[in-house]
Amino acid sequence: MTVQLGRVAVIGLGLIGCSWVKALREAGAVQSVAGFDRNLDSMQQAQHVGIIDDYSEQLAEVAADADFIIVSVPIKAVREVLAQLQPVVKASAILTDVGSVKGSVADDVAATFGPQFDRFVLGHPIAGSERSGVEAADASLYQRHKVIITPQPHTDAQALQTVIAAWQLAGADIEQMEVRHHDEVLAATSHLPHLLAYNLVDTLASRDENQEIFNYAAGGFRDFTRIAASSPIMWRDIFSANREQILAVLDMFQHDLSQLRQSIERDDQTQVMGVLTRAKVARDHFSKMLARRAYVEPMKTATITYVATPGQALSGQFRVPGDKSISHRSIMLGSLAKGVTEVSGFLEGEDSLATLQAFRDMGVVIEGPHRGRVTVHGVGMHGLQPPPGPLYLGNSGTSMRLLAGLMAGQKFSVEMTGDESLSKRPMGRVADPLALMGASVDTADGGRPPMRIRGGAELRGIHYDLPMASAQVKSCLLLAGLYAEGETSVTEPAPTRDHTERMLKGFGYEVQVEGSTATVTGGGELTACDIDVPADISSAAFFMVAASIMPGSDITLEHVGINPTRIGVINILKAMGGHIEVLNEREVGGEPVADIRIRSAQLKGIHIPEDQVPLAIDEFPALFVAAACAEGETILTGAEELRVKESDRIQAMVDGLVTLGVDAKGTDDGAVIQGMGADGQFGGGDIVTYHDHRIAMSFAVASLRGSAPIRILDCANVATSFPNFVELANGCGMSVAVVEEEA
Ligand code: S3P
Repeated sequence: MTVQLGRVAVIGLGLIGCSWVKALREAGAVQSVAGFDRNLDSMQQAQHVGIIDDYSEQLAEVAADADFIIVSVPIKAVREVLAQLQPVVKASAILTDVGSVKGSVADDVAATFGPQFDRFVLGHPIAGSERSGVEAADASLYQRHKVIITPQPHTDAQALQTVIAAWQLAGADIEQMEVRHHDEVLAATSHLPHLLAYNLVDTLASRDENQEIFNYAAGGFRDFTRIAASSPIMWRDIFSANREQILAVLDMFQHDLSQLRQSIERDDQTQVMGVLTRAKVARDHFSKMLARRAYVEPMKTATITYVATPGQALSGQFRVPGDKSISHRSIMLGSLAKGVTEVSGFLEGEDSLATLQAFRDMGVVIEGPHRGRVTVHGVGMHGLQPPPGPLYLGNSGTSMRLLAGLMAGQKFSVEMTGDESLSKRPMGRVADPLALMGASVDTADGGRPPMRIRGGAELRGIHYDLPMASAQVKSCLLLAGLYAEGETSVTEPAPTRDHTERMLKGFGYEVQVEGSTATVTGGGELTACDIDVPADISSAAFFMVAASIMPGSDITLEHVGINPTRIGVINILKAMGGHIEVLNEREVGGEPVADIRIRSAQLKGIHIPEDQVPLAIDEFPALFVAAACAEGETILTGAEELRVKESDRIQAMVDGLVTLGVDAKGTDDGAVIQGMGADGQFGGGDIVTYHDHRIAMSFAVASLRGSAPIRILDCANVATSFPNFVELANGCGMSVAVVEEEA
């Protein structure tokens, strides 16, 4: 970038102006710099250290021949400075400032130069330091810091571009805003916090016992009040110059503070907890909060590649994270229940956290998760509140489909969005039957997200024959049925996971299950209960396959959920000759669990029974790897649903296996895989995962039997279901290195 500013004048030789000039000098963007300050010492020193070339005690002399004038004086001194500049500046000169309030400077410029003066560009660098003055000047002060420019309709375009370029030379990131908006945002994010900090210190310091307070006021007091050591003159000026916006945000704060006071007075711990948990989450995402949007938004994740190399025989006894399906449902039903639901074993993966955040966005107080413990303060069936923005559900199809059912019964409207993968997944399968119930649901083209659900619909119960075996669709309709007039019944073509039915019963809601039909009657209530989430059999499946295919392996997976609608992977591996023992069977909170011991075995190819497909629907990526290591051919049919998961899992797995040298073919509803047999090894290569967590983990498992490293691309989404996968994998004998790059 080549910018030549010519002769620069800097009025006010403080940290902010001097740092900018220093950076401009280093970039070679100035011919010479003249300086002015009320303080002669500052001018002499600035000249001595080479920030300015010359100075004068007459402001007019400094400004008269300048091409680029930086006004960096306290806000309340701006008008006086402008009045002195106005008669002398060249017509071609560009003027700019660095003040924290833009409205008052805009007024000052209009009052001195006239309302249409177009050569003054208003700017505000969001940077500073507790140090001040010429000696603190630092050319890198603005590197990667924001500078807000607030152009006005009449601002000259070339002057604007020059000022922007001059800030960019200092390494700043430029944002443009309207003057008024800038002052509103800064009132909330900077001016109010300073005001409170000064006020708190003053309140405490003026008490008789102040010595005590300061002796013991370590952490909290120190953190909260650090900014009260800033320059009083500067802040007096800011509070005055931006008083309208500061008063508005102060009123809001006073209102909320007095509500919090009342909650404490009444000892209403739920309300207090609500403020604290919301604030904590918002603090973690505070930049989002400024825009008053939903608290969780798409995150810019790093690109994560796994480099998986051949491992050793697996050994050990461990527990994989909590069941994803049950974790989602615990938050949903806990939120709508009366009373407090305590959840343990909750999956702290991004998918279930997306559900948790959605309910926080709708006003539910949820403590945790902390080591798998979550406390949900239920608001009752009709206690949800409109969220502040669209509900962002990340990668999670379960969140969106189940929530669609619940949202259809609310008084308020909601929009639900997701990441790139979720945005491609079919939602018509829930939108269509919900419409039959009287809901008003819009999707984007092709029945894809975002989904918009209009509030206030009167739902009526229907009977629905599911066109596909989908627990998500079944659950969506049963949840909508809680809000519908009369009975809602769903018949499924094959058994699918029944966690919704079981958990509803656990919350005291009657569900009739007869054969393949589940029925609920609307208008009931949920009563809070405790939920112990078992380990997820879908996560356990990776280790079941890993131990099966790696000779000499012997591992035990603890406390795994073995709900009969989920154990397809055990049945299929056993049918292939796997050594799997289900030990210590017991029931926790309405769900059967067991410890599962797996020893290596030479698997053989089979035609997978179609009735097992819905019972192992998420486990096929791992089972494809098992099939590739088996003796003989494995045939999968009746599994077309795999094509609409987080990726087209048939295509993704077949392509990956072929890359590694396996003879595999996809079919419309499944695949045919020729096993490599006892001595077979996978080759090396790059695997495209399509950002699908289960594809990534499956190929990490395959590497156990690799002859060369396998590079598995785009693995960040493993965190959606199995955040500690790599740790557990490496702990039991696999060898997976994580390579992380900024996206
Ligand atoms: C799930 C149901 C299944 C499964 C998903 C979780 C659930 O989806 O693939 O990971 O929690 O209800 P479908 O119902 O679409 O088969």
